[in-house]
Amino acid sequence: MSRPISATIDHSALRHNDAVARRHACGAPIWTVVKADAYGHGLLRVARALGATADGYALIELEGALALRHAGCRQPILMLEGFYGAEELPLFAQHRLTPVLHCAEQLRALASAALANPLPVYLKLNTGMNRLGFNADELPAALDLLRRSPQVAGITLMTHFADADGERGVAQQQASLAMIVADLGEQVISAANSAALIGHPQSPRNWARPGIMLYGASPFPEQQSAAALDLRPVMTLAAELIGVRELVAGDRVGYGGVFTAERPMPIGIVACGYADGYPRHAGTGTPVLVEGRRTRLLGRVSMDKLCVDLSAVPEARRGSPVVLWGEGLPADEVATAAGTVAYELFCALAPRVPVSERP
Ligand SMILES: Cc1ncc(COP(=O)(O)O)c(C=O)c1O
Repeated sequence: MSRPISATIDHSALRHNDAVARRHACGAPIWTVVKADAYGHGLLRVARALGATADGYALIELEGALALRHAGCRQPILMLEGFYGAEELPLFAQHRLTPVLHCAEQLRALASAALANPLPVYLKLNTGMNRLGFNADELPAALDLLRRSPQVAGITLMTHFADADGERGVAQQQASLAMIVADLGEQVISAANSAALIGHPQSPRNWARPGIMLYGASPFPEQQSAAALDLRPVMTLAAELIGVRELVAGDRVGYGGVFTAERPMPIGIVACGYADGYPRHAGTGTPVLVEGRRTRLLGRVSMDKLCVDLSAVPEARRGSPVVLWGEGLPADEVATAAGTVAYELFCALAPRVPVSERP
């Protein structure tokens, strides 16, 4: 028997969430964001599950884009950070990868490249995130260069919202965007991430770029749960108890002994630790399901194990099923209790955890 921990990826939940995203996009095409191995869900697995439904995939890793092409994916692929060096451009042309261009060096490299086929490009505008992208005053020259380049087959403008899930929302960035594009006439803009797609229906719908909502987590977990947004968990991380023991008052648990029993209590030892991707900084009280019943993490998470309170699950035994997040226990709740976001939980799923699929 192998170590009792596994992740399950639910294809039908993914397809359901994709349909929810499409409803919010009002029928406009969307990029399925699959960077970081589809937020830890498995790039090719996600592409297989969505099949011809997907309009296109957006990611940053060239290896991932090539893997999609080798697996037979024919949809457009958007490279969210473009190319890092001009030597990648022949692969972009050969495999029809759409680069996001965010800096002058990329424009110059593209303009001076000899490509087998011209490429559609996305031009990234900085409207307030202040990471990558062209400022308003740099746009005319950038557009001029691209429009004169025989290497360019079409230009789409894009921006990325900094606080679509927060208090500031998208109004200010959208106003900057409107001013920037006012002179350009009719123009396709790709802007909305999950939070904007759901929470800001006035933001551009076309070629939205949802990520986290497709994987079944809420883009604003403190305001609305995934279930309230009709999103279903795609990844379930499950394990088993590999030990149970009775503590007496005063017993301490795990490294550092940071949890002390105040009374006699049963605890369980779960075959999951930070080397499986469970956050080490999750503390006592983080929710865990044992035998389908909600209980709590106790003490410090170890590399291969964590301990849980079995006071409310007296029937629990070695071999009892445990859910760390997913079906029955939203990843958002675990993430919030651990001071992080579901994005980080999903992306951190460790390669040593076997993954199975549910159609
Ligand atoms: C440029 C870009 N677009 C879209 C997304 C998807 O965002 P979310 O997962 O919040 O929907 C991301 C993710 O960080 C991104 O970097």
